[in-house]
Amino acid sequence: MSIAEQRDWYAWHHEYGDPESELSNRLAVVQAEIRRVLPEHPAEAFQVVSICAGQGHDIIGVLADYPHADRVKVRLVELNPDNVAQIRARAEAANRELEVIEGDAADTALYAGAVPADLVLAVGIFGNVSDADVLRTIDGLAAFTKPGGSVIWSRGRGIVPDITPQIRSRFAAAGFVETAFHAPDGARFQIGANRYEGQAVRLSQGHLFSFRR
Ligand SMILES: C[S@@+](CC[C@H](N)C(=O)[O-])C[C@H]1O[C@@H](n2cnc3c(N)ncnc32)[C@H](O)[C@@H]1O
Repeated sequence: MSIAEQRDWYAWHHEYGDPESELSNRLAVVQAEIRRVLPEHPAEAFQVVSICAGQGHDIIGVLADYPHADRVKVRLVELNPDNVAQIRARAEAANRELEVIEGDAADTALYAGAVPADLVLAVGIFGNVSDADVLRTIDGLAAFTKPGGSVIWSRGRGIVPDITPQIRSRFAAAGFVETAFHAPDGARFQIGANRYEGQAVRLSQGHLFSFRR
């Protein structure tokens, strides 16, 4: 699907401008999970990868008050050029050097050199792709994540059929231990965090998912 046929993913981000919005509430949960995995005293560089990064609100916001932000390397992959421009503008405003790739985040080749990562953000994907793509992506995340590293993911609530139980068990089957699962009362989002306890897996060439719109 071309970008022109896609939903307006730039406008989708406007809701972040309202601190009371559902999206801002979701952001707060994602950021709290990111803060939980950032090391208190990093001995070496900490690599973050953001798949379908949007405008980078989550990681850029957290790095703003993380005292060791200079030890964090971030690669963000996003298809929408207006969102990519927003990431770059935010990074510049925050005086952060981030690696931003404008491209199809489903293409595993775009992660060479950045994976396996310490933290992988897969937020805003699983509600927008087929169920088969969700499961394929979870399996693929084993090659994205260092043993001991983490994945933070989201899935909308109330999507029928509800494959959340399958998502959680697929992570377990792929070697990920669940460290948190949030489904706040009344919220339309769910956030999971999982630590990879499997073997290191070599990144292979592939295409993980396609957005439905
Ligand atoms: C639901 S938004 C989530 C954005 C961000 N992760 C967040 O939570 O704020 C989905 C994002 O995926 C992007 N996107 C859609 N298809 C993509 C693809 N194939 N490769 C990279 N980004 C894609 C959209 O442009 C949009 O910014």
